[in-house]
Amino acid sequence: MAPQHIVEVSQFDCEFLELLFSSADSMRSLPRPSDLQSGRILATIFYEPSTRTRLSFESAMLRLGGSVISTENAREFSSAIKGETVEDTIMMASGYADAIVIRHHEQGAALRAAAVSPVPILNGGDGPGEHPTQALLDLYTIRAELGRIDNLRIALVGDLRYGRTARSLALLSRLTTGVELVFVSPDSARMRDDIRDQLTVAGIAFRDETDLARVLPEVDVVYQTRIQKERFESEEDYLAAKGTYILNRAMYDLLNPNAIVMHPLPRVDEINPEVDADPRSAYFRQAHNGVLIRMALLNQVLGRR
Ligand code: NCD
Repeated sequence: MAPQHIVEVSQFDCEFLELLFSSADSMRSLPRPSDLQSGRILATIFYEPSTRTRLSFESAMLRLGGSVISTENAREFSSAIKGETVEDTIMMASGYADAIVIRHHEQGAALRAAAVSPVPILNGGDGPGEHPTQALLDLYTIRAELGRIDNLRIALVGDLRYGRTARSLALLSRLTTGVELVFVSPDSARMRDDIRDQLTVAGIAFRDETDLARVLPEVDVVYQTRIQKERFESEEDYLAAKGTYILNRAMYDLLNPNAIVMHPLPRVDEINPEVDADPRSAYFRQAHNGVLIRMALLNQVLGRR
């Protein structure tokens, strides 16, 4: 049987979402230790820095009773520096592990990995492309926090050009109904046309706004993101984009009392820690949900023992 890869948001449908979310719910009360994946090995191969994605995948596998092998900073410390291709690295690692999480600096790298891999590939972020497992945990968080995923107005804020989490969440919103997306970004970091075109085809309403203060009172979710310094072509463009949208106490005062603020993290200066204790700040709860969703995903692609 062909392995089940998790590479891009377009592969998901509503039925998959429903099953995954209820499986993630059930992971909360899983006995510890569990043996659902005992004897199985997950490899995490990361060519770009990561804290949450790698740690939460590893935590998820360990909580399921499986084991983990990993190479951090694979761009420098793996054979990539000797010129090994992603394809070769994956072919080799598939003999060492039952599933592989890959994060790579090139858009499309996870798809290339999946094309050759005999074991499931999970895309942990491919450059400025996609971050499908983050989008799943983001939508799961919205459902957990607000009790629904439909009929919501969601502001995506910050770097929508290079930010793969915002791109993937926008695409995933196609599986909800009655959503309206509001893109709030500096000029140099606007949502690209590939995503806009797919939203248009799916009939998803979206608009651009520049004034975050005006948007805050009217949205249910603010999805703040980091300006992706490492992906800007010039320092000048980065500096022009940086610091445009900062959520602080004064901005929170404008926010709808029932809204939530999310962020895939890490943050730099775009959310002031002075609002961390506000109940609407959902970003750390969001990060914790990553373990539940990734446990459910690993069970899904590996099958339960
Ligand atoms: C993000 C990423 O790597 O795309 N982090 C994450 O996975 N939670 C966001 C970022 O780096 O800004």
